[in-house]
Amino acid sequence: MSYLAKNYNRKKIAFKYGKGSYLFSTNGKKYLDFCSGIAVTALGHSHPKLVKTINTQSKKLWHVSNAFQIPEGENLAKKLCQKTFADYVIFQNSGAEATEAAIKVARRYFYSIGKPNKTRILCIKNSFHGRTLATIFASGSKKMTEGFGYVGGFDHFDFGDHKSLKKKITKNTAAIMIETVLGEGGIKVIPDWCLKELRKICDKKKILLILDEVQSGVGRSGDFFAFEKSNVKPDIVPIAKGIGGGFPIGAVLMNKKVASGMTPGTHGSTFGGNPLAMAVGNTVMDIVSTKKFLNNVKKSSKYFFSKLNKLKEKYPSIIKEIRGKGLLIGIQLYKDQATFIKKLMENKLLTIRAAENVIRILPPLNVKKREIDIALKIISKVCNQLK
Ligand SMILES: Cc1ncc(COP(=O)(O)O)c(C=O)c1O
Repeated sequence: MSYLAKNYNRKKIAFKYGKGSYLFSTNGKKYLDFCSGIAVTALGHSHPKLVKTINTQSKKLWHVSNAFQIPEGENLAKKLCQKTFADYVIFQNSGAEATEAAIKVARRYFYSIGKPNKTRILCIKNSFHGRTLATIFASGSKKMTEGFGYVGGFDHFDFGDHKSLKKKITKNTAAIMIETVLGEGGIKVIPDWCLKELRKICDKKKILLILDEVQSGVGRSGDFFAFEKSNVKPDIVPIAKGIGGGFPIGAVLMNKKVASGMTPGTHGSTFGGNPLAMAVGNTVMDIVSTKKFLNNVKKSSKYFFSKLNKLKEKYPSIIKEIRGKGLLIGIQLYKDQATFIKKLMENKLLTIRAAENVIRILPPLNVKKREIDIALKIISKVCNQLK
């Protein structure tokens, strides 16, 4: 009997420890972990530098209130701003908190410039921005909002429907918020030309652009941010997952203009930005933000994609499409993916589902070529079994 509420449909397996790209179960089996806690353990399990950081910092200081200066947080914020479009950062503890804070920043900006009615956020229908009350209504998914009352302030357009997007912008729209790559929604990449158009529309309508990089950010795409190649500068970017490498950290990055609304007392978090979390974030940042590391992610991605596309050619009745960017990869099947994922797991490869019959492949960003080869062999074997 479990005393945990039944809000998850958990697989009957538990893990004792993890090392690099591998997880070791309590019943003595070794799994290749290409789920990475859903794009969280970006450096794999028990990365020696992260273990050292957490050991060292835990002996010094875990937590102080944000009523005081926190040098570790100052340091991480500086690194994030120097690496990206951002001028300011607010730290949180999760992705949903970061996206919700992004919404607050957008609304508060318009309030601060005397436009308090500009509060509405325009999002893609059936996207994913988290599980708090506001973010489920931002996501616009019936399944996620059913039974949870109503939180207003969000409008929606269908993915790819640019006409409806333009129509849905009203005088009360504050921002467009989209995932640069729709993760839960089936690894759907927003093309660079589209991001450019979005920026143009936002500029024309004098509204803000929020790019949710909770899943696609922090190196996952092969660049630090998935929107980087488009040269588009968003106003606000929530991040989480990878930046903590497994330690809960969220953050909202913003430009100077919108940050002007966030005066003392407008937002806060007891835990957000505490010294222990920030120490870990600094170490992750130092590793993932280097050109060498990101080039390696690109190299692994290129190799993985080329091999997966070969598998698609070999099994055209099973694999419909290979999608994604960097090491945020989706294998879209013609049929429901549950059996396929189960068989991958029986063969000791862990993956996770996404919408549209997609199997999400999220290896650690420092995955080795030989580990990709093992995964490919298993995927090929399962294709062969199911053909
Ligand atoms: C794009 C995106 N935004 C927000 C979230 C919510 O993050 P968290 O589960 O840490 O609250 C997720 C989680 O999967 C996500 O993929």
